[in-house]
Amino acid sequence: MKHLISPLDFSVEELDQLLSLAQDIEHHPSKYSNICQGKKIATLFYEPSTRTRLSFEAAMLNLGGSVLGFSSANSSSAAKGESVADTIRVISCYADIAAIRHPKEGTAFVAASKSGIPVINAGDGGHQHPTQTLTDLLTIKSLKGGFENLTIGLCGDLKFGRTVHSLINSLSRYRGISFVLISPRELRVPDYIRENVIEANHIPYQEVESLDSAMPNLDILYMTRVQRERFFNEEEYLRMKDCYILDKEKMKLAREDMLVLHPLPRVNEISVDVDDDPRAVYFKQAQYGVYVRMALIITLLKEAGRLC
Ligand code: NCD
Repeated sequence: MKHLISPLDFSVEELDQLLSLAQDIEHHPSKYSNICQGKKIATLFYEPSTRTRLSFEAAMLNLGGSVLGFSSANSSSAAKGESVADTIRVISCYADIAAIRHPKEGTAFVAASKSGIPVINAGDGGHQHPTQTLTDLLTIKSLKGGFENLTIGLCGDLKFGRTVHSLINSLSRYRGISFVLISPRELRVPDYIRENVIEANHIPYQEVESLDSAMPNLDILYMTRVQRERFFNEEEYLRMKDCYILDKEKMKLAREDMLVLHPLPRVNEISVDVDDDPRAVYFKQAQYGVYVRMALIITLLKEAGRLC
């Protein structure tokens, strides 16, 4: 059975098909409005979420299907000590597909190994977040036309930011990509990403601390929030939390066609005065998240033989 646990679970070709399907859905939504009639998605969220959970639910409703699930560990039997492995076995009897978010790295992988239905990783701790990556890729493809020869700046908490890890994994497969990794020393990309993904694929990259000096060369600036919930102590978080603030002044340093992406939620790292800049596409990005999750649900249900 095909699941989406890591961004590499889809080949470049499969990814291309998925993104084309998402674009077709965007332009012809009525063609798809009943395709999942009678199908159910279970959203199993053991960690807070607004966009990811609700965009999965909106995606299934847009396809004519229905949703069930929980939005916190406390309101599920996890509070009584049930394992994720047992929960997913049971959910397999109730739903056709499941999206799971959990604070512990590797949970979606374990769930998939015990599941009778396709499992989608909606974020596992500070590890991966492949559907945010699909959202980011659809945004880039739609607004830049493709992925080749782009210089991508990733800024903020590159250590704990799972969306960053997944995006690097995925983009490393395209020609002419280069990365500028902008973070304080303490929040640099983990070694396993730098060595096993960026260096192993011979991707040109720089690790820098200054956002100002990086700005003029970027095609995409991917801003991220400092991930408070993954810090071991609050003091360290308070010291780091405002390490980068993108504002109107800084945007003057950027190219006319640079795009600003952010997986959201934003805290302080993008000043609201940037929102009106046509290069700020993070709210548009959230809309693309619905189309791409619709495409993903269709693709995985078809693979599982649950949709003709
Ligand atoms: C991200 C996440 O949960 O990792 N949010 C999201 O799904 N759009 C980013 C974040 O929380 O900072």
